[in-house]
Amino acid sequence: MNNSLKILIVANEIVPFYKRGGLGDVIGALPEALRKIEVDARVIVPYYNDIKNKYHLKEEGEFEIDFDSRKDRIGVYSALSPQAETPVYFLENKQHLCFYNVRGKKKKIEQFVFFDLAVAHFIKWVSEHHKWSPSIIHCNDWHTGLIPLILKQKVKLETPTLLTIHNLMYQGRGSLRVLDLLDMKDEETEELKRGKLVTEINILGEGLIHATRVSTVSPTYAKEIVSKDDDRRNIIYSFIRRREEKKLPDEEIIGILNGIDYNIWSPVADELIFHKFNVDNWEVGKEDNKEDLLRSLGLQNKPTFCFVGRMAIQKGLDVLIKAINHISHLDVNVIILGSGDTRIESSILEIAKKFPWVKAEFVYSEELAHKIYAGSDFIIIPSRYEPCGLIQMIAMKYGTIPIASRTGGLQDSIEHGENGFLFEKGRSIRLKKTIEHALNVWKNKEQYKKMVEKAMKTDFSWDKSAVLYKKLYQEMVDKS
Ligand code: GLC
Repeated sequence: MNNSLKILIVANEIVPFYKRGGLGDVIGALPEALRKIEVDARVIVPYYNDIKNKYHLKEEGEFEIDFDSRKDRIGVYSALSPQAETPVYFLENKQHLCFYNVRGKKKKIEQFVFFDLAVAHFIKWVSEHHKWSPSIIHCNDWHTGLIPLILKQKVKLETPTLLTIHNLMYQGRGSLRVLDLLDMKDEETEELKRGKLVTEINILGEGLIHATRVSTVSPTYAKEIVSKDDDRRNIIYSFIRRREEKKLPDEEIIGILNGIDYNIWSPVADELIFHKFNVDNWEVGKEDNKEDLLRSLGLQNKPTFCFVGRMAIQKGLDVLIKAINHISHLDVNVIILGSGDTRIESSILEIAKKFPWVKAEFVYSEELAHKIYAGSDFIIIPSRYEPCGLIQMIAMKYGTIPIASRTGGLQDSIEHGENGFLFEKGRSIRLKKTIEHALNVWKNKEQYKKMVEKAMKTDFSWDKSAVLYKKLYQEMVDKS
């Protein structure tokens, strides 16, 4: 890969080393797909203790940075990702980069300001020590939002930057003290030029202003976040408008749909499920998996709907709870798996107490998730917004038909009536009607079979998305 594009992908998480959500899956899979098409992609993440406890990494060296008026040491470690040998770098610092869950918002902001500064210096370090100079720095989410600014202002590097937004709701808003930590003047950040009233920094916002290009994880979400219907009170809106208003094609936010990693998500090779299957024998495969799942949860053999995901407002569980109340006349099971917000958990517990055919498990269990994908007939995804969503893609591969809100990446990956169903987001009555409709389809065996097979055959592999990223990187390099 001597003359190829060199991409440094920066993030807070990467599968299998450290995962918090869908972002970790993306960062694990995208570089591998890029390397297959001759893009020299490498990844850099913080070296959390959770990783240290599980993996033995290679020590590569160290460097120093100035932070909060003193010198801090950064250790550089590396590993190859298990599948396609993507080099992954890990930055170690005993004070700032040991845990993701540091206490307090202020500390968390400081942690990622530190990380972003360290990454900017790492770019110089890796060019010198490994003779590898990235052509693009690919930042992901707010954790990496200050890198474009720091590169320009502090490290004086012209390397183009791409910022990918996986979730606009998390922005990293904090006190302006951040600028003292970096020894940066107020005027050096865009946000502050907007008036004296501004008292906080918005890290994602700075990224939106300073990154060479911005992308997000589905074409529909890219449109939604610039539309006037989006929540205008949201501070991020002004940053996005400012990018859009420049009217340069380069300022447009581009949407590239994520894929899923079929090395992990494939019912024919899944060690965690009861009976492996593929599109040729799914009927017997799913029947056995369903029986196993329902038996373990003490449920009767009925059409089975499930929910798998974080218990967060974004995921629309309130809509699901209302819909469950509306469908008590139907003879079905509902299985809910996930953890998170305790208030949401307790309202789910209530509904599970009310109806014995509703089962809820408040754990993060990879194994149970696989079993649920394999053994359910339908998966309900009532998200209020969904930048991409990976669950619908996984479920489809396991022959489980999605019933999802018409929004973001759900809309871009599901063809209504073909490989899944879409309903108007936030509307429990619409969800109820769609569940009834889905049940009628299920009863018509031929129609249902057609849908399941179409869903299982829909291709969400990373290869297609990797080609689009490569094109974008190339455009950026050509223009720089
Ligand atoms: C975030 C988004 C989700 C997306 C994932 C990976 O978790 O909420 O929609 O699939 O990032 O991009």
